Amino acid sequence: MRIIVHTGKGGTGKTSISAATALRCAEMGYRTVVVSTDTAHSLADALDIKLGPEPVQVADNLWGQEIDAHYTLDRYWGQVQDYLVRLLTQRGADHIIAEEVTLLPGLEEGAHLLWINHYLNLNQFDVMVVDAAPTAETLRLLSLPDATRWWIEKIINLLTGRTAKVLRPLARTVGAELPDEEAATAVRELFDTLDKVRDLLSDPETASIRLVINAERMVIKETQRTYTYMNLYGFPVDAVICNRLIPAEVEDPYFAAWKAMQAENMTLIEEAFSPLPLLKAPMFNLEIGGLEMLQRLAETLYGDSDPARQMFAGLTHRIEPDGNGGYRLLVALPFADRDDMDLYRSADEITLRVGPYRRNIVLPYALWQLEIKDATFKDNTLNIHFIPA
Ligand SMILES: Nc1ncnc2c1ncn2[C@@H]1O[C@H](COP(=O)(O)OP(=O)(O)O)[C@@H](O)[C@H]1O
Ligand SMILES: [Mg+2]
Repeated sequence: MRIIVHTGKGGTGKTSISAATALRCAEMGYRTVVVSTDTAHSLADALDIKLGPEPVQVADNLWGQEIDAHYTLDRYWGQVQDYLVRLLTQRGADHIIAEEVTLLPGLEEGAHLLWINHYLNLNQFDVMVVDAAPTAETLRLLSLPDATRWWIEKIINLLTGRTAKVLRPLARTVGAELPDEEAATAVRELFDTLDKVRDLLSDPETASIRLVINAERMVIKETQRTYTYMNLYGFPVDAVICNRLIPAEVEDPYFAAWKAMQAENMTLIEEAFSPLPLLKAPMFNLEIGGLEMLQRLAETLYGDSDPARQMFAGLTHRIEPDGNGGYRLLVALPFADRDDMDLYRSADEITLRVGPYRRNIVLPYALWQLEIKDATFKDNTLNIHFIPA
């Protein structure tokens, strides 16, 4: 099964593009499911059909599903959360606060990614298109297995280990049954599923992450940050989709400034994301809804090509620890000439000039406080060494 994830800032067109991409995949003969958790139910509007928590057939080879985040959360985390909430409230915590603190970070927004594993096991679809939650939340879930591994292990300890001995008599006196083993098993299952989903999403043969943007400065900057973190975590971004470009044939002076701004921002997009392929879609003269509009959108994005294929291989940059508290930022620059290269740095950005081209890379937080020791160019790779100041 191929997995295509569209992520990006709210309103850029993720849902429309997910629907159009899924429709095109279905028309090419792939059994396709498009999945969204948008509480505003906009996937149903895009496909112009009523959807629910179970897949609904939309067209030949095409199913759509609006997953209920609460249902998913409950299924994977509900049992453990109930248990923790009961413990906390017995010890005097306010119920609402107990609910809040026992919510696994990022799970609410990203719970739909857990369905990837479900569909893989089901073996019913060739392509799964994911209309992902807005950027920051999606990333939090994608990084969840690492970021909260220690936290989950602490919970398992709490439930089964030494701490439980302290808690158990206490709980008994207030009359709560303690399903330690069940709760611990549920935690492990969630953890295993997250690991599997992460592995699937990290495998470029299986997954393509696509960044949906508009030609607006704020959107580009925020998406650059997403891209840096995707590279950092090793998720294969293989294209950028720029939506809502005002078409050249629009000559109304009202839109002149918008067109000029978009043209200017195309340069920023090049600097931020090249050499990723850039797909473009125009601003249509009406909202996107119904299969006919989706076909038009797919046509402008993909022409005759197959959206399920991998569009780019490899990472354009990656970050490795140097073993001494520093990091190396490795930037692939095929065809670059070492004598015609400049490097500028601000706290959170690197700008490279290679011949007439510029590349702009947003640095992850861990590198902000570090200084550049040196930069070398070898085997078509620029190696920038960051060390503690
Ligand atoms: N290229 C486009 N031309 C015209 N309308 C668009 C275009 N892309 C998206 N829209 C409209 O903009 C709104 C937001 O798009 P949507 O796909 O729901 O964005 P997101 O899922 O990123 O929030 C919808 O009403 C949609 O029909
Ligand atoms: Mg949406």
